[in-house]
Amino acid sequence: MTNKTVLITGGASGMGLRLGECYAKAGANIVLADINQEALDACVANIRAYHENVIGVQVDVRDYAQVVASRDAAVERFGSIDILINCAGGAETRICNAPNVFYENPIEVYDFGIDVNLKGAMYFDHAVMQQMAKQNSGVIIHLGSITGEEGSPNAVAYAASKSALMFGVTKSIAQAGAEHNIRCVCIAPGPVLTRPAMAGMKTMLGRAAEVQEIVDMIMYAASDKCAFLNGVHILMDGGRSVMFNKQ
Ligand SMILES: NC(=O)c1ccc[n+]([C@@H]2O[C@H](COP(=O)([O-])OP(=O)(O)OC[C@H]3O[C@@H](n4cnc5c(N)ncnc54)[C@H](O)[C@@H]3O)[C@@H](O)[C@H]2O)c1
Repeated sequence: MTNKTVLITGGASGMGLRLGECYAKAGANIVLADINQEALDACVANIRAYHENVIGVQVDVRDYAQVVASRDAAVERFGSIDILINCAGGAETRICNAPNVFYENPIEVYDFGIDVNLKGAMYFDHAVMQQMAKQNSGVIIHLGSITGEEGSPNAVAYAASKSALMFGVTKSIAQAGAEHNIRCVCIAPGPVLTRPAMAGMKTMLGRAAEVQEIVDMIMYAASDKCAFLNGVHILMDGGRSVMFNKQ
């Protein structure tokens, strides 16, 4: 991965952070982009202890000007963006602490969910593809979710955003990127142990995924070994989607 640059949104926590650590160990240049400055500083300091080529950029993925500034900071420091991984996000009801049923939540909760999970990824795709088109190469990874397959009575914007990323956005970005050798793939996990609560969500394997299992899949999908993989989502859910009884 030497001389390759990987930009990871949501890079200060969970899968985004682990991706940053793994790509750093593989020798890539790392750009961690996240809204949480304090966590970002700590993550960058930890990685810098063994890998010099890492920067953190604070960004709210809902703000396109900030997204463009993050892209520019990455290109200024490292000269290219070879892989973009859109991890920023999460269920709007969890982030906004609004666990009521759909119609009892204030409507702003759903604007937030769509803005972070769907528009945030599209903003990054839009800004970074301009750079990838100049390079005539690049890989874009989206994070879908089993919720995008199943729906959710509470996290409606999250379900809608993830469905959109898994289907319409990933296919469309692959189509838009084809003439510039830009691939787009979506990895859609079932429950992942980025937090203990995910252990409570049933799968056919009787467990949630370890963070590393999903990270390994993302890194494989983004690698040249998967050069023929494009415009699709991969549901990596321990068989949850084909279970008869999920209660
Ligand atoms: N953990 C799971 O079980 C699971 C399952 C399926 C899909 N996913 C998806 O995978 C991705 C990563 O999940 P995770 O569990 O590692 O998440 P996480 O909650 O550990 O990390 C998400 C990161 O996104 C950042 N973020 C949130 N809003 C932002 C904004 N407006 N601008 C910039 N950064 C912002 C947060 O600060 C945080 O660092 C998410 O898109 C999530 O929806 C997670």
